[in-house]
Amino acid sequence: MPALEQLVVDIATAMAERTARGRVADYIPELAKVSPAHFGLVVATADGHEVVAGDADTRFSIQSISKLFALVEALSRDADAVWRRVGREPSGSAFNSIVQLEAERGRPRNPFINAGALAVTDLIAQDDDPRAGAGAILRLVRRLAGDDSIAIDSAVAYSEAATGHRNAALAHFMKAEATIDGPVEQTLSTYFHQCAIAMSCRQLARAGRFLVHGGRDPASGEAVISAERARRINALMLTCGHYDASGEFAFRVGLPGKSGVGGGILAIAPGRASIAVWSPGLSAQGNSLLGTEALEMLAHGMGWNVFNPDPAP
Ligand code: DON
Repeated sequence: MPALEQLVVDIATAMAERTARGRVADYIPELAKVSPAHFGLVVATADGHEVVAGDADTRFSIQSISKLFALVEALSRDADAVWRRVGREPSGSAFNSIVQLEAERGRPRNPFINAGALAVTDLIAQDDDPRAGAGAILRLVRRLAGDDSIAIDSAVAYSEAATGHRNAALAHFMKAEATIDGPVEQTLSTYFHQCAIAMSCRQLARAGRFLVHGGRDPASGEAVISAERARRINALMLTCGHYDASGEFAFRVGLPGKSGVGGGILAIAPGRASIAVWSPGLSAQGNSLLGTEALEMLAHGMGWNVFNPDPAP
């Protein structure tokens, strides 16, 4: 069996045996229903192969991984407007932190913390139909994954809308500071719906392929974004994609990655592979515990690390 196939089997076997699996997110009641026993891994390689293990085709809530796709959509519409609103610095704070936002006068540190994502989504949500913004993000992920069956789980969206008071606080504060233009309720509704997009590891790995190939979707040959923008998004994923555990993720895995509290992580080995992993139990910082460990094993085993002077072929 070739090295990658064997490694993926070994990782899934090791993860199945783990008893300490982290804590499933329960601040969004609908997410608390998911079993921590799940584990899925899909590696979509640059040469067009998919190596899969475990629950590769089970759909889960992508949550904050949607912030990546919202950013791509907003940058494509008006990049200057995005960078007028949000910075590009790691926050060193929890994903839903409020304190830094006030200290910095309503300008979020980066587009991947909740405040930054709300500010980005507000640029997309400017439409009469409150579902249009999330619809645009959904269309983008469907196109990137080549799969029109991808959908929003409305039970998850409603569950978060009913309990999303911290996000409401962030959004109202940014409205007061003029970081957000639109009606706050519309921005929040769009954000809750984009977070509730449900995808499998296979669909997510396919949707990430454009970041492996300098912004070009290898399935259609289409340039989704420029090569420069793809490099910059990968840089943001590496420095900000795991909140106050971004340094730890770079240290252990050494690849750009974006996590979500549904337990998914999308990681990119530029020129090599798009990797999606899912295990619902989280670390204290809200990132998949076993997902991170699996990526560490995979990156190490394959020699995939953006800091390698001589990456494995
Ligand atoms: O805004 C929230 O709290 C969730 N919809 C998403 C948070 C999230 O996924 C953080 N990631 N690890």
